[in-house]
Amino acid sequence: MSAQQLITPAPPGYEPVPARVLTDISTLPCDLYIWRGPRPILYASKGGDLRKVIARAQRGMSFLVREIDSDLLRGALAASLPRVLANPKVSPAERSKTAYSIAAKVLMPVFTRENALDHDGLLLTHKVIDSITIHLLEDEEMVWAMVATMQKHVATHAHAINTAVYGIVLARFMQLGPTDTIRDVARGGLLHDIGKNRVPRVVLDKPSSLDGPEWQVMRTHVKSGHEMVIRAQGYPPSYAHIVAEHHERCDGSGYPAGRMATGIPIDAQLVAIVDAFDALTTRRPYRAAVTAFDALHVMRVAMRGQFNDEILRELIRLLGGFNAITTRIDGQELAGCMKAAG
Ligand SMILES: [Fe+2]
Repeated sequence: MSAQQLITPAPPGYEPVPARVLTDISTLPCDLYIWRGPRPILYASKGGDLRKVIARAQRGMSFLVREIDSDLLRGALAASLPRVLANPKVSPAERSKTAYSIAAKVLMPVFTRENALDHDGLLLTHKVIDSITIHLLEDEEMVWAMVATMQKHVATHAHAINTAVYGIVLARFMQLGPTDTIRDVARGGLLHDIGKNRVPRVVLDKPSSLDGPEWQVMRTHVKSGHEMVIRAQGYPPSYAHIVAEHHERCDGSGYPAGRMATGIPIDAQLVAIVDAFDALTTRRPYRAAVTAFDALHVMRVAMRGQFNDEILRELIRLLGGFNAITTRIDGQELAGCMKAAG
């Protein structure tokens, strides 16, 4: 999906909701509208049977809800996510697409509204990513389906979801620790860049490389993010250090503290790797996306010493396995990854 496709038109006071994300909610949490004329028309009322509404909706149809009902809808969507992920009647690929769309719909405001990470917002965020974490730890097929589903566009919430999913998958592959450890990787991966909500848009969206002073502003996002998650929870969450340290680098070249490898927790080192990998493989306003192979090559060669070598090697092994599955489409990529791992 392109960034353009994300922006579905809606009249003032309403927001679009694709029918796809509503499939596992039984009762309508708020009124649902369609937009065919000058103003939205009520399509189904709050409390109605949503399964019947969806059954008569056209494929790919999009509804509207009033913005004042947004939190109600997001709560219902987050509650439906475990059912979506575990629905045995739907293929892993379809379940992954729907789950990703739900996560994006629920989380987007958290990453675009300046003060959206209040206590309720944080709990909702945990609920969404914990559902995905628990499911990916149990269902091997869904792991690869979720990796294949990732949307590579510039939206901050998409990068956040991707970093969390790569983090879960890599931590699982490495058997990094008990479920709580992987849950923290997921939560910290999801919220690692939340401090960017406080970086001025003129810096965040600049369509060219940042200059020195702009970089100084951008780098404040780690401290801001750390403060935001502590404030939202009321005390430091167990993954707060991941938010604070995801730009530290093993050779001491990172920020904010310039710590060496031994001073950086292993989960923060893992998130640093999947953050960089997703960023490199995603198009940015000032550069094109690079292939998975080129990203791994850059991280191993041009950025040598910055990342934990063992974790990076595991990521290459993991993606080599993934590419082995997709080899029928792109044998070159598999060969490339194997070469980078050597
Ligand atoms: Fe960051």
